[in-house]
Amino acid sequence: MYSQNMIILVAMTADRIIGRQGELPWDIPEDLALFRRLTVGHTLVMGRKTFESIGRPLPQRTNIVVSRSMPPMEGVIVCPDFSSAVERACQNEGKVFFIGGREIYRQALPLVGRLSVSWIKKTYAGDCRFPSYRQSDWLIAQEWDYPEFHHIIYQRK
Ligand SMILES: NC(=O)c1ccc[n+]([C@@H]2O[C@H](COP(=O)([O-])OP(=O)(O)OC[C@H]3O[C@@H](n4cnc5c(N)ncnc54)[C@H](OP(=O)(O)O)[C@@H]3O)[C@@H](O)[C@H]2O)c1
Repeated sequence: MYSQNMIILVAMTADRIIGRQGELPWDIPEDLALFRRLTVGHTLVMGRKTFESIGRPLPQRTNIVVSRSMPPMEGVIVCPDFSSAVERACQNEGKVFFIGGREIYRQALPLVGRLSVSWIKKTYAGDCRFPSYRQSDWLIAQEWDYPEFHHIIYQRK
């Protein structure tokens, strides 16, 4: 059974670009503010490379990093594989947001009940794409328009 409380949160272009050289290809403060609004008080699950690009645990959220190589760090729960990260995340109250990168999105796609997507309006070059998925499996539950992106919350049909 999919959980509505397990959510993929991603910003991508129309051709599913999510990253370039380990970073976000864009700088859109309004999207970062939305990310913060949606996630504060909840649990984040991220890959080690995404954690390194953020550079620090995000405050007021449980930060779970999936990694076989990362040493323990204050403010972060390091899990050695994806399933133990999901198990640990589900012990918390509230929502679980899978915040990337590609490797984490690929493993989370079969589990989540919601996709929360900021569709970036401009095109950007990149070397990392969100995994391909069937749009027809998802219904639009909510959407908001912003100058530089359109945010859609999809619910699994
Ligand atoms: N646009 C967006 O919304 C968004 C969001 C997040 C990230 N990004 C972008 O995505 C890119 C990074 O994505 P990525 O796929 O290269 O990296 P990633 O998913 O962030 O991290 C990959 C790392 O996570 C660990 N990992 C993943 N699955 C694991 C498993 N089952 N067991 C143990 N460890 C596991 C491994 O770490 P170890 O090597 O330490 O074992 C692996 O090398 C960057 O460009 C970033 O800016 C974009």
